[in-house]
Amino acid sequence: MDQKRILLIVGGGIAAYKALELTRLLRKAGVAVRPILTQAGAEFVTPLSLSALAEDKVYCELFSLTDEAEMGHIELSRSADLVVVAPATADLMAKAAHGLAGDLASTTLLATDKPVLMAPAMNVRMWEHSATRRNLATLRADGVMFVGPDEGAMACGEYGPGRMAEPAAIVEAVMAALGGGARPLSGRRALVTAGPTVEAIDPVRMLTNRSSGKQGYAIAGALAALGCEVTLVSGPTALPTPAGVVRVDVESAREMLAASEAALPADIAVCVAAVADWRPAETGETKIKKDGKAAAPIALVENPDILANLSKGRRRPRLVIGFAAETHDLEANAQAKLAKKGCDWIVANDVSVAGTMGGDDNAVALVTKGGIERWERMAKGEVARKLAGRIAQEFR
Ligand code: C5P
Repeated sequence: MDQKRILLIVGGGIAAYKALELTRLLRKAGVAVRPILTQAGAEFVTPLSLSALAEDKVYCELFSLTDEAEMGHIELSRSADLVVVAPATADLMAKAAHGLAGDLASTTLLATDKPVLMAPAMNVRMWEHSATRRNLATLRADGVMFVGPDEGAMACGEYGPGRMAEPAAIVEAVMAALGGGARPLSGRRALVTAGPTVEAIDPVRMLTNRSSGKQGYAIAGALAALGCEVTLVSGPTALPTPAGVVRVDVESAREMLAASEAALPADIAVCVAAVADWRPAETGETKIKKDGKAAAPIALVENPDILANLSKGRRRPRLVIGFAAETHDLEANAQAKLAKKGCDWIVANDVSVAGTMGGDDNAVALVTKGGIERWERMAKGEVARKLAGRIAQEFR
């Protein structure tokens, strides 16, 4: 295989020191790294360290005549298979989202015709600011991939999401984006639903459930790593979007159904979301007050079944997979669900085992029309990779 090349844009933030380790790991993995160091980035790491680890020249200035003679910025922006921005500061994200091109890094991002992967790093307030939220949504819609940020203690003394993903996680995302492994699902499209749904009772109260979204997110990421074009329709979660996945955020079951249908046509649908079976028949426009009398019962109406709808629709994906969270008679219930929903496979998991909902491990059985396969207990990431592998077999 030809050597893969990345253009690494190092922005100005304390996390820039991790870009050195990232460069080292990428070189170790056999990837060529050509660094661009922003002016602010150079306040945190030196061109010399970056160049020594990258074993390449570091590009710093937009209007350096020497560089323009050697390689113009347009050419530079296209000289790699993937552009990685790490750390992607709030400033770089804002520039890229708005198409500003006032320096080498932003010009490169505007001029490139290659996929872009960003590893955001910034103070938690900056990450949560509505301006950054908007920029993130714009960049995602433009096809930019993201890895992280992680949640944790930050250099500024605050705690929350905003820490740059660890270099090893960025390498994994880079490899997935570069198609380091086999990409048997390339050219295929998948829809994955994940997380809980939220059904409003009134403006402040809601019906929801304990789903963390971890399993669905892992499946979306595992399919993307095999080259699949993935739309993840997600209820509210605290998880970062997996690399290479387009995420659509929703709240209610009805919104999830509409977003799922909008993601069609697809070859594959994996319904992992824990969709509320019912919603309040009426949603209070104002907060429902106690008035000293007995509480009025909340009348419920049934929600649409997204899995069943996808399974019978005119644009039915070729392979439709559902999940079954059961507390008893796991396999019998899963077989019944397969028939009732009209899907092709059911991944049955036993949520009576403590720690499955919200935990990191899962013990599942794959139920198909052909029979039942029991998988040993493994990490949700492993379940995802194994399932993605099985899906790829179907499309060989
Ligand atoms: O019927 P039950 O909720 O047990 O079925 C679980 C499966 O059906 C999961 O795949 C879930 O994502 C899907 N489902 C759905 N829409 C609903 C209820 C469940 O897509 N309203």
